[in-house]
Amino acid sequence: MLANNRSSLGVKNGSGIRAMFELGITYRKQGKKPIDLSIGNPDIKPPAVYYETLQRLVSEQADLPTNPHKYMPNPGYTDTREVIARDAGSEMGIPLTAADIVMTVGAANAIDVVLMTIIEPGAQDEVIIISPYFVEYNNYIENNRGVPVVVPATNAFDLDLAAIEKALTPQTRALILNSPNNPTGKIYRKETLTALADILRNHNQTTGQTIIVLEDAPYDKIIFGNQQFASMLGCYPHTIYLTSFSKSLGLAGERIGFLAMHPEIGSSVDERQVFQAALATNLRTRVVNAPALQQKAIEILGLKQTVPVEAYGERVEQLAATLQELGFPLVKPEGAFYLFPQLPERFKSEEAFRTLAHAGDDPLLYTPGIYFGGKAYARHIRFSACASPEDIARACKKLQTIMHS
Ligand SMILES: Cc1ncc(COP(=O)(O)O)c(C=O)c1O
Repeated sequence: MLANNRSSLGVKNGSGIRAMFELGITYRKQGKKPIDLSIGNPDIKPPAVYYETLQRLVSEQADLPTNPHKYMPNPGYTDTREVIARDAGSEMGIPLTAADIVMTVGAANAIDVVLMTIIEPGAQDEVIIISPYFVEYNNYIENNRGVPVVVPATNAFDLDLAAIEKALTPQTRALILNSPNNPTGKIYRKETLTALADILRNHNQTTGQTIIVLEDAPYDKIIFGNQQFASMLGCYPHTIYLTSFSKSLGLAGERIGFLAMHPEIGSSVDERQVFQAALATNLRTRVVNAPALQQKAIEILGLKQTVPVEAYGERVEQLAATLQELGFPLVKPEGAFYLFPQLPERFKSEEAFRTLAHAGDDPLLYTPGIYFGGKAYARHIRFSACASPEDIARACKKLQTIMHS
């Protein structure tokens, strides 16, 4: 076999979601018009200022006498990191400097490189993830030879603090938090994060270990109504906040993001400096550095620009209203662009629902809940609101047809 066992298993685990994507292609070839709410692929374009910035940068760079495309420091341009430190620091109320920021190839690369830096290969280091969870977490952890430990969220998809406390062991190296959450849209409250921080601190004191929190927050600008994002950075010093511009600016294909570590992470200045240097080294062996032109664009734009977030909010609201009206148990999303309803009892199984959803010339595509944490979510499905308002309206109509069939 060419691919090793671990990689082959990764292919198998990812195949369910890909199968939905491929089904969409097949249906289109058959002349059908699928309503594809399966993939979280941001469809809303960046604001005009993003393109103006790129145009300006490209023409300035073309006129330079020197080469602006040279290698750079692995953590990114210092000027860009200074802008991020300024903006992220003021958003979080933490004094960040460029030394605390690493520019990354999206949030995915940030998670990977942090895990690569903290997990001791062969030591059975455990990384806690909260289910339902983003399907790639297992791959990031296992690629870096860590052991995923899954702790289910509460029924309302909040953190189950007692269950997290119970799952902590002397092997626990890290905990990944994702708020606003994919697939549930849940945002964790400041009080919950403060209580979690107390639990982690107690554990650290007892074991002499330091649990690192990876706060995976690529949706923290996609927030609805009066909701607010609270960061673990403000509650626990051993936190690495990481995000990207994939959703906030709709730049998923451009691969640009960053991580911000708490300025007091670790137990000493020396430890912190070694950690920063190790992160840079690991970034070098994985991706070398984040894309140069995108870094320069972000340096000009800062963190304030976003896509029109209300547009995602309206789509989620419309789908949520329809699902609730039709009797799908749903925890209403507070942010991100997903809905994770349960199936009404009249459907024997997800497969039974799928048969109806895929029937006709307008098959409705979604991602089955099992891909977000196994059998416990066998009666959940995930809809992504990355579809035109017309397709969202078609989805609502299709759901009505299914329920009245
Ligand atoms: C929860 C979560 N984390 C991380 C990522 C990776 O995003 P990116 O690498 O594009 O920033 C995604 C992408 O969908 C996600 O949903």
